[in-house]
Amino acid sequence: MNTIDITAILASASCMVAPKPVLKWAGGKRSLAGEVMSRVPAEFGWYHEPFFGGGAVYFELLRTGRVTADRAVLSDALPRLIETYEAIRTDPSGAMASFGRLARVHTKEHYLAVRDAHNRSDCATEARVDRAARFLSLNRTCYNGLHRVNSRGGFNVPFGDFKGSPTLDEPNLLAVAETLRGAQLSCQDFEEALERTEESDFVYLDPPYDRCFVQYTAAGFSRVDQHRLADAVRRIHERGVRFVLSNASTAFVRSLYAGFAIETVSAPRAISSNGKARASVEEYLVS
Ligand SMILES: C[S@@+](CC[C@H](N)C(=O)[O-])C[C@H]1O[C@@H](n2cnc3c(N)ncnc32)[C@H](O)[C@@H]1O
Repeated sequence: MNTIDITAILASASCMVAPKPVLKWAGGKRSLAGEVMSRVPAEFGWYHEPFFGGGAVYFELLRTGRVTADRAVLSDALPRLIETYEAIRTDPSGAMASFGRLARVHTKEHYLAVRDAHNRSDCATEARVDRAARFLSLNRTCYNGLHRVNSRGGFNVPFGDFKGSPTLDEPNLLAVAETLRGAQLSCQDFEEALERTEESDFVYLDPPYDRCFVQYTAAGFSRVDQHRLADAVRRIHERGVRFVLSNASTAFVRSLYAGFAIETVSAPRAISSNGKARASVEEYLVS
């Protein structure tokens, strides 16, 4: 067997990897994915996820063949997140190489320098792939994998003091890139995303939770946004679009979705904003 054959075999092996999330994400739904999946209709047109974050439910649906990438519309209001996915799908090898250069050192000083560069970085002068590698690096080296910004949009999570070097799973990155190439990806507010849904479609909505961590973006997510979301959900429901929405089990959320099916489920938290509250919590699934 010559070298070309081996390269081809390795390439096809990486394509066979079922993609998993590449980012740790506060509020990530890996542990709730089974509950959500059991409520996904057997058949639907397009799959929409307007609060994409780390995409735990999407990747699980993909792995189990419940959705296909070419009928998925994925979006989030955080520009640096969507830019990172766009860079991964365009140039995963470049992102991997740039990440590798950043991952050689894991000290607090290095972390603070990368964070500072991230906050000062300008998409007009810097390659998107390098900005994406920095985003991935911060996600792996910050405290608890959290993404939190201040009111000016500055990323302000402290250093994550763990032993060893940060890693990025290359076959998985290639598989994620392949998947994202088929999907529609955009940075937008959920209202705009929901306007694009059609009658036969299915939507999974995972907003920042009521009374929980909301500072993913500079705008945060207030109760005004929760009202805006509930109104938008009623509008898609009236058009015959099916949906599942997760949120905190508060009286406020229950009142917002009065008239819909509201089920209480119990889920262990993957990442909390304070690193403590990892015990299982009760949440609502509205459909
Ligand atoms: C709970 S997280 C989603 C986690 C995701 N389901 C996962 O498994 O990783 C909520 C997401 O909503 C996004 N977001 C915040 N405000 C938004 C808005 N107005 N429109 C769309 N997305 C928003 C945040 O950037 C964050 O990624």
